[in-house]
Amino acid sequence: MAAFGTVFTDEMILSRFENNGWTEPAVVPTQSISLHPGAHVLHYASTCFEGMKAFRHADDSVHIFRMEKNVARLQQSSELLTLPKVDGAMLSQMIVDIVRRYASDVPMPPGSMYIRPTHIGTEASIGKAAAPSLNSLLYVLLSPVGDYFAGGAKALRLLLDDNARCASHMGMVKSGGNYASALQPILKARAAVQADQVLFCPNGDVQETGAANFLLIDGNEIITKALDSSFLHGITRDSILTLARDRGMIVSERELTVEELLERAVKPGAEAALSGTAAVLTPVGTLIHAGKEYHVGGGKAGNTTATLRQALNDIQWGRAEDKFGWLT
Ligand code: COI
Repeated sequence: MAAFGTVFTDEMILSRFENNGWTEPAVVPTQSISLHPGAHVLHYASTCFEGMKAFRHADDSVHIFRMEKNVARLQQSSELLTLPKVDGAMLSQMIVDIVRRYASDVPMPPGSMYIRPTHIGTEASIGKAAAPSLNSLLYVLLSPVGDYFAGGAKALRLLLDDNARCASHMGMVKSGGNYASALQPILKARAAVQADQVLFCPNGDVQETGAANFLLIDGNEIITKALDSSFLHGITRDSILTLARDRGMIVSERELTVEELLERAVKPGAEAALSGTAAVLTPVGTLIHAGKEYHVGGGKAGNTTATLRQALNDIQWGRAEDKFGWLT
């Protein structure tokens, strides 16, 4: 299987914001796009994106998971980056149209179609370091995918880092810059301790990893950071917490310190996991902090993570009732 996100459908759909309005969405080949070298995005990183998936059900119908919530988050990211306001109804229609056009390319389970709406500031003006781009390009890419983490549901190794992932008021923005700033710590952690990801814990506050939210599961309780502007408001996070509550679990959205995490994580029955569209719900097996390795759940793999992942997948693939109305 090709690496996650390296295969694309032949076409994508786009609309441009120019002269104060959006152009009629057009399906175009997924090929190079032409940008002025002075485009705002290339200098001042005015870019945000979304990640959601479409799933093939047993009757061959295709369903997009939590589209409205992803569209709303792109609208919010665009607003916080002062990009032109995204027309939510237009973007939803663009997504439905391009997915419908490539419905036959949506892989069978366990694969899915990853949907990547992207919004970039295109105005040619390098003088606008402190002013928004008046023009922009909004496009939706499709990429048939399998597992994001090579090794599937293999338990991950996380290195705890005292730094923040990004500026504290920008974490809730799904912007390219936040991912770029997490890259060097991830590469260093990989080289130094063979970590799969970095868990950013500024001032001892367990925040998130470079590309997914973090959850500690302790018996019947899930503990994860309460929403604030410093980290991404994951839609998979929200879905997993909803499923957990529905199963009678206690969901504690609150501050989790490194100290508490390391103390609880090693106890029998504890589990940890990363949630995200790409990560789904991937177990964490080892936490590395200050040169020491902590084996989650005393080294014994727990099954709440697997059960919650299964419950999510069952709705996505139409094997369980869509009781929360998550499918389009
Ligand atoms: C996602 O989970 O959709 C993301 O945007 C993370 C990315 C690294 C694939």
